[in-house]
Amino acid sequence: MAAQNQPDWDNLAEKFDLWLPHIAPVGEALLASLVVNPGDKILDVASGTGEPALTLARRNPHAKITGTDAASGMVRAAQNKVKTERLENIDFTATPAEQLQFEDASFDIVLCRFGLMLFEDPQQGLKEMYRVLKPGGQLALAVWSTAENMTTMYWAYEVFKNRLSEEDQPALAKVTSLGAAGALEDLLDQAGFTEFNIQRNSFDYQFQTFEEYWDIIEASDIMKQQFDALPEGERDNVRDEVARFARDFQGENGLRIPHEYILAYGTKQL
Ligand SMILES: C[S@@+](CC[C@H](N)C(=O)[O-])C[C@H]1O[C@@H](n2cnc3c(N)ncnc32)[C@H](O)[C@@H]1O
Repeated sequence: MAAQNQPDWDNLAEKFDLWLPHIAPVGEALLASLVVNPGDKILDVASGTGEPALTLARRNPHAKITGTDAASGMVRAAQNKVKTERLENIDFTATPAEQLQFEDASFDIVLCRFGLMLFEDPQQGLKEMYRVLKPGGQLALAVWSTAENMTTMYWAYEVFKNRLSEEDQPALAKVTSLGAAGALEDLLDQAGFTEFNIQRNSFDYQFQTFEEYWDIIEASDIMKQQFDALPEGERDNVRDEVARFARDFQGENGLRIPHEYILAYGTKQL
């Protein structure tokens, strides 16, 4: 049963891969914030269909990487990639972030891209990351910024706000729930992290045309819950309204849509 306030990750697993090239810059920034040593044990929490853990595994054959995600469909998709590529230093398991099945202080590095803000209990998830990290170990996280600065999410809020009932709105609100100034810092403090850096970074979703963007929105099922809840005949109106927003971002290089995220990285105190 899918959580009401999230996309149905189990059922959209492979389709999520359509987004991977578009969020790759965030994975690169996360990995650039880490120092990986041979033999390191690394945990990617809410690892989805496997990124950025798989990239880490390819680049660091002497590190031992584990990915965990609450949705078994996502885990299966990630595990299929491990088999196809015959990677021997990585595996994936289905575990909710709030109850990690690992010993205290068992990882040198813990990372999480675009997972934390979606957890049912982000505070408990972050406490678990702290618990399984060795003293002196490194943490790197990425969460989305506010809706105003996550442009396509702003479009979604605008087009759905007068068309959907209250109960179909939380799925959108959750995505940007840690974007406000200080929200992530507070969570990190409460989980026990005292030494961390926070950066607000921006990158562009890049498409040639609006149609290319909209094809991915539809094909990935990322907003299926919202589309299914729309009144009869409204889907085309929603598309047209989003297309009008997108016009401001269309230039001679194609469609360039800026998105801000927050990168947090640091160490667990010795
Ligand atoms: C936006 S996807 C990101 C996946 C991957 N980290 C990436 O960047 O490609 C969010 C993921 O968080 C997972 N997730 C949501 N709530 C979770 C929880 N409480 N515990 C573990 N994973 C969770 C979902 O199943 C989904 O795979």
